[in-house]
Amino acid sequence: MNSEYPPLTKVPHHVAIIMDGNGRWAAARGLPRLAGHKSGTENLRRIIRASVEFGVKVLTIYAFSTENWGRPEDEVKGLMRILEDVIDSELDELHREGVRILHIGQLEAMSPRLRQKVQQAIEITRENQRLILCVAWNYGGRDEIVCAIRKMIEDGVRPEMVSDQLVSSYLFTAGIPDPDLIIRTSGEMRISNFLIWQSAYSEWYVTRTLWPDFGREEYYQALVDYSHRDRRFGRLSECQGES
Ligand code: IPE
Ligand code: IPE
Ligand code: MG
Repeated sequence: MNSEYPPLTKVPHHVAIIMDGNGRWAAARGLPRLAGHKSGTENLRRIIRASVEFGVKVLTIYAFSTENWGRPEDEVKGLMRILEDVIDSELDELHREGVRILHIGQLEAMSPRLRQKVQQAIEITRENQRLILCVAWNYGGRDEIVCAIRKMIEDGVRPEMVSDQLVSSYLFTAGIPDPDLIIRTSGEMRISNFLIWQSAYSEWYVTRTLWPDFGREEYYQALVDYSHRDRRFGRLSECQGES
């Protein structure tokens, strides 16, 4: 960690971000929505670096939801192109920096070329250990649960075998710990179908800042805020429990 920031007393292992507000960022500048998405992508690079610097181990980013298919065709196509461009331009550097790329969501709906690029990125970076970057693309929490139920039925899972742990192991996020902190930019107070099972006890940080403007400084502030949270998980806080 850079000396410009005091060390954090408690760092979330897993941070998940709903990167929202690209469209409003562009509109405020009289630019097309895709310019906002490009700017959002540039910001992502900063936040990935800062995650490594601050000691976060897993960063999940909500980049395209199952509902985002309902946007105008031009925007959907533009977003697909941006993902492709980002893989082409950033993969080598992310790999060098020790970032392991994972994907959650359904790859099937993507073009074969994009699917192949995503699979390649996952394959090339699979041994990396510095930061897991989990990209939620064509991801929806309900879709994830529907897929899990289908797979359980296909596998002949019997009712008495179903437990919290078993359900978790059938989700796209199998093997990844639940997010400790979820950040949502642009001020909306909703979950928008993101990690609906996994967020049962996540802490939230919502800011009005639009995603392209959410820089390293505010990210650090979100982590400071988290470090002061008392996570009780339905029990009493540690000091109360001792009395
Ligand atoms: C988030 O920004 C990025 C995606 C959903 C792909 P938006 O595009 O939702 O931006 P706003 O909410 O319209 O400002
Ligand atoms: C959530 O943002 C999805 C992503 C950030 C990818 P949206 O802009 O799609 O969510 P709503 O429509 O405001 O709920
Ligand atoms: Mg939005």
